[in-house]
Amino acid sequence: MNEFVTVKTIDEMGMIAAAIFESEIRKKPDIVLGLATGSSPISLYKELAKLHQEDELDFSKVRTVNLDEYVGLNGEHPQSYRRFMNENLFDHINIDKKNTHVPNGMANDLAQECKRYDDLIEELGGIDVQLLGIGPNGHIGFNEPSDEFSNCTQAVPLAKATIDANARFFEDESEVPREAITLDIKHIMHARKIVLIATANKEEILKKALFGNITPRVPASALQLHREVTVIFSEGE
Ligand code: GLP
Repeated sequence: MNEFVTVKTIDEMGMIAAAIFESEIRKKPDIVLGLATGSSPISLYKELAKLHQEDELDFSKVRTVNLDEYVGLNGEHPQSYRRFMNENLFDHINIDKKNTHVPNGMANDLAQECKRYDDLIEELGGIDVQLLGIGPNGHIGFNEPSDEFSNCTQAVPLAKATIDANARFFEDESEVPREAITLDIKHIMHARKIVLIATANKEEILKKALFGNITPRVPASALQLHREVTVIFSEGE
């Protein structure tokens, strides 16, 4: 890790993260961005939309790959990550939707879909800047605590802590998908730059991940081995 920034509010967290993304996009207009979902990135996405609308930040050549998608939800489902991305970011900027990639949670053959996603990332030349949130159990993407760090995109069962945490987005806990496709730790670690954003409710797990033992039981702890990680922590929720 080379930078840890603490701010007071989620809006400030979004503004600082957006400034990093803005400068990277202006440097490399056809950048490959690794994007994330959840509550944490919403202020960043609002800010990026604003930068597009008010400061002509150009996304016409930007390519994006999302970290994950629920198995069994199609892209129209209100809780699918494809829909989240469209509504929170893609519909508000001049990105070509053909350049935006989210795993297909409806694929008949999940193993083949995961392979397709890995091949796609290779074709794109890898991820330039990867955005991450962190789950309450230290997961990144949907890489749940495990015996080893994952090394290819895969369909995984969700941990109980994740199902519980994400139940707030669904009408009932029973509706939360039990499985998801996730980009793996190896691909995340190969991103040239990583921006991790987290709010106050994640303080404890964040400390464990960044300053504790490096172990696949805390998947985000792998980030300690990355050379260019910026962590932006909001004291507010
Ligand atoms: C989900 C996503 C993660 C995200 C995490 C935290 O489980 N798969 O990519 O980082 O939630 O989300 P939030 O920001 O809502 O706390």
